[in-house]
Amino acid sequence: MDNNNRPDLSARSIVMLTGSVIVIASVTLLWPDAPAPGSPLAQLCGALGALLLFAPFAFVIMKRSGLANSPPAWFIGHVLATSVGTCLIFIHVAAGDWFSPPGIILLLLVFLILQGSILRAIFSRGFSLLFARSSAPGGFNAPATLDKVALQGIIDAKTQLLGNLDPAAEEALFSPALKHWLRHPWNSFRYLLLAEREARMIGARASAGIELGWSRRIHMLAALGFYLGLVSHIVVVLFFAGYAAEGGAIDWWHITDWGG
Ligand code: HEM
Repeated sequence: MDNNNRPDLSARSIVMLTGSVIVIASVTLLWPDAPAPGSPLAQLCGALGALLLFAPFAFVIMKRSGLANSPPAWFIGHVLATSVGTCLIFIHVAAGDWFSPPGIILLLLVFLILQGSILRAIFSRGFSLLFARSSAPGGFNAPATLDKVALQGIIDAKTQLLGNLDPAAEEALFSPALKHWLRHPWNSFRYLLLAEREARMIGARASAGIELGWSRRIHMLAALGFYLGLVSHIVVVLFFAGYAAEGGAIDWWHITDWGG
């Protein structure tokens, strides 16, 4: 597909979408008689919202495994599902106690949305250009002391490894995806080390990428915390309902009341 015709979301649409989610979430919080999180309506909203919030997880798996035909379409699906899912979650939590263990999941969710939108809207295009070395010849600030022979050695080693990892891939653009890690974990790891050394040598990360690299890592770490927290919350309210109700009546749909 031609790059210009690829479905994508402009920075403006992302900002507008995030803005709408913030407005809808704020309106929900002003709702005077919002239902308790465990009431049928609020619990249903929690369940549907959580289902939609698993879309980004599917997106990462599809993208990393190379299964998705059109990663940009998956990206749009991820952003839309997250937006609608978040609005539903705000209905779920409107009358809940935010200073509670599930409140941390909410905090992580809000952080992920805000940081993710900023990351995508402001930095991301510059990021892909910066690292697509072949498409931006001389586009990074190589340090004056660059050891060209050593750099060539790293590129040769990467090319050699690539013959085994993914012969059809281009060295300058390649980074190991999930399928490579599963099939050739050791070579994928060696490739990553070489790529890190190369990036340090040419100073690409030092000029702009370092901040972005960390932003992405923090985003992924927060996402991991969010999903682990969400799964724990679901397990607690459905199976350890007695524990969640702290000795009181369990007034929500649950499977077992362990921990009471
Ligand atoms: C991103 C997803 C979710 C977030 C951020 C979230 C957050 C919260 C928060 C902040 C509370 C209030 C805690 C309190 O008042 O002590 C709560 C309570 C509750 N949530 Fe969720 N929740 C999510 C998903 C779900 C799902 C999928 C279910 C159903 C399977 C669910 C079921 C419940 C129930 C039954 C309660 C009431 C528990 C109680 O009263 O102690 N939640 N949730």
